[in-house]
Formats: sequence, structure tokens, C-alpha cells
Amino acid sequence: MRILFITHSFNSLAQRLFAALREAGHRVSIEFDINDPTSIEAVDLFRPDLVVAPFLKRAIPGRIWRSTPCLIVHPGVIGDRGPSALDWAILNQESTWGVTVLQANEVMDGGAIWASETFTTRGASKSSLYRTEVTSAAVTAVTQAVARFEGQQFQPQPLKTVTPPVSGRERPLARQADRAIDWSIDETSAVLRKIRSADGFPGLRDAALGAATGKDLYLYDAHPAPTLAGTPGTLVARSGEAVGVATVDGGIWLGRLRDRQSDHNFKLPAVQVLGARAAGLEDRSQDEADAYRDIHYVEREGVGFLHFPFYNGAMSTDRCERLLSAYQEAVASGPRVIVLCGGPDFWSNGMDLNQIEAADSAADESWRNINAIDDISEAIIRTTDCLTVAALRGNAGAGGVFLARAADEVWSHDEVTLNPHYKDMGNLFGSEYWTYLLPRCCGEEQSSQIMAARLPVGIAEAQSLGLVDRSLTPCRIGFLSAVEHEAAALAQAGDLDARLQAKRERREHDEAQKPLNEFRAEELARMRTNFYGFDPSYHIARYNFVHKIPRSRTPLTIAEHRRRNPDLPVRDVS
Ligand code: COA
Repeated sequence: MRILFITHSFNSLAQRLFAALREAGHRVSIEFDINDPTSIEAVDLFRPDLVVAPFLKRAIPGRIWRSTPCLIVHPGVIGDRGPSALDWAILNQESTWGVTVLQANEVMDGGAIWASETFTTRGASKSSLYRTEVTSAAVTAVTQAVARFEGQQFQPQPLKTVTPPVSGRERPLARQADRAIDWSIDETSAVLRKIRSADGFPGLRDAALGAATGKDLYLYDAHPAPTLAGTPGTLVARSGEAVGVATVDGGIWLGRLRDRQSDHNFKLPAVQVLGARAAGLEDRSQDEADAYRDIHYVEREGVGFLHFPFYNGAMSTDRCERLLSAYQEAVASGPRVIVLCGGPDFWSNGMDLNQIEAADSAADESWRNINAIDDISEAIIRTTDCLTVAALRGNAGAGGVFLARAADEVWSHDEVTLNPHYKDMGNLFGSEYWTYLLPRCCGEEQSSQIMAARLPVGIAEAQSLGLVDRSLTPCRIGFLSAVEHEAAALAQAGDLDARLQAKRERREHDEAQKPLNEFRAEELARMRTNFYGFDPSYHIARYNFVHKIPRSRTPLTIAEHRRRNPDLPVRDVS
């Protein structure tokens, strides 16, 4: 079928659906929901059998849903309505939540039901739930709804006829007052819940911390810190990039803050936003039991597991330098296999664009950042004493994908999405040794196609392209255990020494063909032009990304209906 997505943005959920429906054989094109005439024009151009709206902030124009069936993905259980479905699910401590696929009509979220799916919630941020449980439920429900539509037998069920009685109901927009923290009575669990209900967007605006610091502060990336103590609602410690705030029964670490009055009014590390105030706090970074850790290493049965759960997968210069030290230390401790685990939500999304945007010289900071990531990539490529595995629990994008490919093997599960391209960020050339790594695993021709296509890929496609070696589980549940099991088997395998010998020989052979330094120098020459050259595209794209400026048109790479020859992929014009 021809399926048109009308969506506010091509976010992680839309990307997974795009990959899943294409894998199911459908032709999918995308139009951003910019205004009614643009959406109507997209429908006229593409003539879809079906419109799917994965992520909308406003209603679909009547002219579209009256002429073409439109399926709306609502991140709530049957009967739930309103713009803050997940916020309320977290605030109300719903243990089960869901996704409903409804047909668009004149009542927002009130149309007949094509499919629904439920899931068990967990104590995580709204974004984390959205990217994982909601997205997986949406893939199941939309796939089912599309199959039902195609089968032409199914009658979507009007809400009022659903039995047993529906659990959801209409709820208003969740406002700051609905989640305001009362530090004098809220226990840690309540504080975490309130912050998580607004993380990543819009963030919880906290009056107490704001008043105490003289800043208009929004709080993100909250974790329990049971050993902290002090006057509730006050800053009591720091640890790495986080600050500790006391609660009535302990405290929390806050990894990210946003100061709305600042020139850099986007999310940044908490210690950076608070500056001197944070510097004066007691440093608990070395506290074994209760520190904010964005890098940690454990070793079991000859296998080392290096975790780096960086917020939003963003790898700043400092984070890269600390990760490189941790990696070198881990290798020196002599494991047979090292598993690079990334974080639960993201493996890596490459350079930290927020911190680059906040730097005095964005060009200089970009240069430092890309060199710091390259240093990690190089260290992984040059590791010949042990096998290296990148285990992707969460998504990876841009430099993060190619950094993973520096490892000997890349393992993942079926719910991961990869964005193996740089050019959407203002035509960035990219580095991380991709010009060496990509042809090595995917072949020359396929490498050029991957880079030019600029499309997200699901894990089945990533495997067929050579970007991923193995998918260990159908979903994220059980993935880490499977990784532990498989890595232990690798470490104990009788042929490990032979594999390491082959790896050394291949490295020597590759080095003789073309030294790694040459790949780096060539890539960085292109990156230098991106950062310091006359064309400001990268700086503009980064500014728009960090400040979340909505796109004014849909990129041709995904808007097939706007291409002159839709059957041809978009050509790389750089
Ligand atoms: N630096 C800083 N923040 C980043 C980031 C990066 N490299 N990549 C993603 N983020 C942030 C986003 O701003 C967003 O923040 P929020 O919590 O305020 O909403 C969050 O991570 C999730 O990203 P989002 O874009 O909403 O996720 P997605 O699944 O829709 O898209 C990507 C994933 C990877 C396609 C997209 O995030 C992206 O293009 N990132 C930039 C990649 C890049 O160009 N890196 C630099 C070159 S190496």
C-alpha cells in the first residue's frame, strides 16, 4: 500500500514505524505537519491508500480525513484523550499503559479504534518510556491496524461500543502547577515522578531551586541519591556533571538543567548551568555507594562491560576523554572480551551538539569534540589484545553508529533504530574513521548508498547492510542477559586466541594498505571545512537542532512524493 505519514517530526517512533512498514512491503512517504495546505498538497501528490499520523500536535484537516482514511497513533489506553497522555500516566502512577490507533474524525482522539496495545510501565522519564515501551506498542498496534485495513474485513470499533468499560478518559494539558514539587512534604519517589513526567519536554520548572539560585530552572535527568541529607529543596552536593538536592527522605541527583533566562537556554550539565554555586558544593564523585555515574565498568568471567549512559547519548569532549581513560584502563586489566554497553536509551548520538552550541567558539569546540570521539574510535580499532563488542540496547545516530562499528562485532535487538548518516546536520562530512569502517563492513557501493540515503534503518535492514552483526533478542527485555551469555561464550571459546591472531594480522594488513592516520586526516580536513569554512550550514543546522526550531519543509530524502523521480533515491550532492 501507499502510506503517507503526516507527523510533527520524524521522531524515534515515526522512524521505527517507517522501518517496520517498509519492511512489511509498503511504500511510505513522509510530510511534516507544517500547515493545512502543505499536508493537503502532500496527499494530492502522493495519493496514499492510507494516512498514518505517528506524532501530531494538532488535528488533521477535515479535507484529508474525509477523503482518505487516517490512522492516529495516540500514546494512551483506549478512551484516553488529550495532549499529555504520558505525563498523566506517570503522575498518576499507572502500572499499565498503552497505545491506541484511532481513525481521525471531527473529535480529537475520539475516532473509532483500529487497534490497541498495552504495556507495563516502569520508573523512567517520559522520553524513555516513549522511545521504548510506547514505540514498541505503537509498532505492534499500527502494523495490526494496517493489516486490518488492507484485509478490508475489519470494522473499527466506535469508542462507546467498547467492552469492558474503557479505563481511559479525557485529560487536560499537564501544566507546571500539576507537577510542582512541594519539597516540604514530597518524598524522593514523588519528586522523581514529577520530574520524570516532564523529561525530556517541557521539563519541570522548580520555583524553590530557581529562587535559591536566582535562575529560572527546569530540571531533568533525575536519579535517587539516598545518602544525601539537608534542608529539602536545597543544593547539598555535586557529583560529576550532576548536583544533589536534598529531599525529606534523602535526595536526588540532577544531571541536566535548563536556565530559561540564560543565553544558552537549552539543556546543559547541571554543574555547568550553576557554575560557581555548584563548584562550592561538597564533591561526592568518589562515593562508591551513591554517586552520579555516567561511566562505569564491571568485569565478570573474563568479560569487561563498559557502560556509558550519557544523557541523550550525547558525547561531549569531556565525556569522550573520560570514556577513553576508562576504556584504556579496562583493556589494561586484561579481559578477553570487552563489551561497550552505551546506555539504556541510547548507545551514542555522536558529538554533544548542546555543549558545542554553548561554547565560546562553536567551531573550536566542534573540532575538540570530533577529535575526542576519534581518539576513542581509534583506541577501539587498535585494540588487538581482546575482542570488542558494541552492544546496542538503545538507538544510535550519526557518529554513534560508526563508533559502534569500530568494535569487532555489533550486537543489538530488534527494537533498535539506527541513523547511519551525518549529512542531515548541515551537510556534515563526519569522522570516527567511517571512511575506513563502513566499506570494511558494508562494501564500497553499499557504504555510499547508506550515506546518501540518510534514512533510519531497523535492525533487520541494518543486518543485511552489514551495520549490525547479530540481533540477540526480539526486544530489549532480556537483551543484556543474552549479551552477558554470548560474551562469556566468546571469552571461553577455544578459538579465541586464533581470532585475536587473525585480528592482529588484519590490522597490520589494513595499516599497510592505508594507515589509519590517513583516514583520520582526510575526514578531519572535510570536517575542518564544515566547522571553519565559508558555508555556515552546519552551524545553522546545529543551532536549529539545539533550539528545536521546527522544520519549514520536509527533507526530500523522506518526502518521496516531492521528488522529481520518486523511484530514485536522493543523490548525494556534496
Ligand atoms: N547532542 C545533543 N543532544 C542530542 C544529540 C546530540 N548529538 N542527539 C540527540 N540529542 C537530544 C535531542 O536534542 C533530544 O533532546 P530532548 O531530550 O530535549 O528532546 C533527544 O536527544 C532525543 O533526540 P531526538 O532527535 O528527539 O531523537 P530521535 O530519535 O527523534 O532522532 C537522531 C535521533 C540521532 C536522528 C537525532 O537525535 C539527531 O539527528 N541527532 C544529532 C546527531 C548528530 O548529528 N550528531 C553530531 C554528529 S556526530
